[in-house]
Amino acid sequence: MICPAALQGVGVGLRSCHYQNILTDLPPVSWFEILSDNYLNTEGLPLYYLEQIRQHYPVTLHGVGMSLGSTDPLNFDYLAKLKQLANWVEPVYISDHLAWISIGGYYLNELLPLPYTKEVLDHVTERIKQVQDYLGTQILIENPASYFTFTNSTLSEEEFIKALVESADCYLLLDVNNLYVNASNHGFNPLNYLDIMPKNRVKQIHLAGYEKRDNYLFDTHGHQIHPPVWQLYQEALNRFGNIPTLIEWDTDIPPWEVVMTEAKKAEKLMVNN
Ligand SMILES: [Fe+2]
Repeated sequence: MICPAALQGVGVGLRSCHYQNILTDLPPVSWFEILSDNYLNTEGLPLYYLEQIRQHYPVTLHGVGMSLGSTDPLNFDYLAKLKQLANWVEPVYISDHLAWISIGGYYLNELLPLPYTKEVLDHVTERIKQVQDYLGTQILIENPASYFTFTNSTLSEEEFIKALVESADCYLLLDVNNLYVNASNHGFNPLNYLDIMPKNRVKQIHLAGYEKRDNYLFDTHGHQIHPPVWQLYQEALNRFGNIPTLIEWDTDIPPWEVVMTEAKKAEKLMVNN
């Protein structure tokens, strides 16, 4: 692992359609976030490009495969591959989501939310501790986007996450778009959410675009960042300082210049903060 001081400013999620732009122009972005799952089962071209890009930029590893909320046993085959990748690329951080994606050994293509109860808190805490022990480093957990809640939840999302990062001694990857989407879908105040997050636990921020559906917001990562998310990002910077921030774009990925324009907007807010 590289010293966290290596991560500053605004990064961009590395996507294969931008490999050539990046290697040809070496654009002035501060770092790249690598979707670790795309590099675990390949020995081909993606690793070649990653090796080249890694020589010029700090990187973080961001995955979806830990299934931290599942009741399945932790998948140590997956974690072994992730550890091998981490040993090779030396990421500043490794992150995954507060979610579950597997049941009975079957993996789903969705990050599913959890009921927020003390029992689930203890369960996820234990699993994060096991993952951290195995990887030999603290990890970052991303707050999820969700479209339903559980009637048996006894804690709010922010209460659960605050307790989780403290009990597991891990960090928070604060996805401001997810926070806005959830606040809108479930009707809570996102500023209260920011207010109770422990400042020293927030290590990275995600910004992305949602899509407005009939009566809810859907976290597509396929749009420019919407104005209310920029406003909430400013509120996050006010509270936590200039946390390293990532522009995340996963569907309908636009030309590199469009992503850079979003990165420059985030940089401007940081400079003025
Ligand atoms: Fe995210």
